[in-house]
Amino acid sequence: MLKRQFLMPIAALAILVGSMVTLVLFKSPRETTHRTSTLIATTNISDRVTLRFVSWKPDHPKAWDEAIARFEQAHPTIRIEREIAPHSSTAYHDLLSQKLKNRDTSMDLFFMDVIWTSEFAAAGWALPLGARFPSSERQKFFEATIEAGTYRGELYGIPSRIDSGMLYYRKDLLEQYGFAPPRTWDELVLQAHTIVAGERTRQPALRGYSGQFKQYEGLVCNMLEFLGSLHGASAREARNPLLTLTSPDALTAVRFVREQIVHALATRAVLTYQEPESLAVFVQGKAVFHRNWPYAWGMANDPRHSNIVGKVGVAPLPHFAFGESVSALGGWLYGISAYSRHPEEAWTFIEFMTSPEMQRHFAMHASLAPSRIALYRDDAVLQANPQYRALFPVFQTARPRPRTPVYPIISHILQRYFSRVLAFPRLDIREEAEEAQRMIERFERLVPLQS
Ligand code: GLC
Repeated sequence: MLKRQFLMPIAALAILVGSMVTLVLFKSPRETTHRTSTLIATTNISDRVTLRFVSWKPDHPKAWDEAIARFEQAHPTIRIEREIAPHSSTAYHDLLSQKLKNRDTSMDLFFMDVIWTSEFAAAGWALPLGARFPSSERQKFFEATIEAGTYRGELYGIPSRIDSGMLYYRKDLLEQYGFAPPRTWDELVLQAHTIVAGERTRQPALRGYSGQFKQYEGLVCNMLEFLGSLHGASAREARNPLLTLTSPDALTAVRFVREQIVHALATRAVLTYQEPESLAVFVQGKAVFHRNWPYAWGMANDPRHSNIVGKVGVAPLPHFAFGESVSALGGWLYGISAYSRHPEEAWTFIEFMTSPEMQRHFAMHASLAPSRIALYRDDAVLQANPQYRALFPVFQTARPRPRTPVYPIISHILQRYFSRVLAFPRLDIREEAEEAQRMIERFERLVPLQS
């Protein structure tokens, strides 16, 4: 039965990889470069232009409305029309790649998740931006965010912010029970059980942990953090832990997540949670620990959204006994569509939005962690986000997911594997891991992965 269930996805993946490999092998990024210069030369900036910007549904809509209004005020000849895509990176990718496959000229610019650069560049979907963004400018950003926007030496995406996974916790409850923020996963489990048991009569709905365990990209990030934290820094140069699923350590880590976190500390619904749902549980005061990205700080301390304002602490994610904390590198890059008729104006928008002033605005009003390093010494930014002082090293060392044009396929295999073994406690983790590993290696033979 299980075997048969597996055949379907393999067939679907084969079709998917077939079309992707075609794109990767037959579309040279250089073709796009020629196109760019022609387009730029013929665009007349004095005409009033409407730019269509495809973006996810923002967590802080007001901060975005204000930013766009400021841009339009500064550039009266350009109007921004937003198209709101799904929040989930996986669903957003489907929408965006469909438009790009259709060579949709109505879309000018978009957000790219950091994991899509290789795919978008290899397919010729995103314009090269290196000539507009000299290395003197790039040096002002976290190196990993610039690398995330780069494919084969060319830059395709400008980092709007940096994301790295963090552990949010109930400062008030930990203090009340005499705990310091946990440094290991075992400590976290012990603290969570103690607090939940101690609060049972007062807060029966309180659970130990809330994270992202639905089958989508966020699950891959959460699991990368668990698997990576078996070894930590010493293994940083080694193969990405997402690509070595069958080692005894990797199997132990997955078993730990299934038995000690998902089925012990969380509600069963956690298997359906993306970022917004898991954060909702935390800000309602129903979880002791919560894994999320930097933006959660602003939400958790905003009385319009949260019951736990002022009761929130944030720390690096825990690690296994002999490992070190690992945080997934996330974030969103501004990209210009290769089919846009207004690349010049699109660049004007990107320059504005990634300027120090606007990154300060987003840090202050949406807790989006700046990709510009200097802003971590900025008084206004630090006043709104005092946690950045202690967490700066977490941003600096965040670990990328594999960088490859076939990332969506690798992610699909990982998502399916993790989701199945977490949801079904009786499934044999080793068998499932071996199957996922075999599929990853099959694709790796077609398109070598840079990890
Ligand atoms: C955040 C990250 C992104 C990641 C996604 C997963 O939006 O910035 O890189 O893929 O979460 O849910």
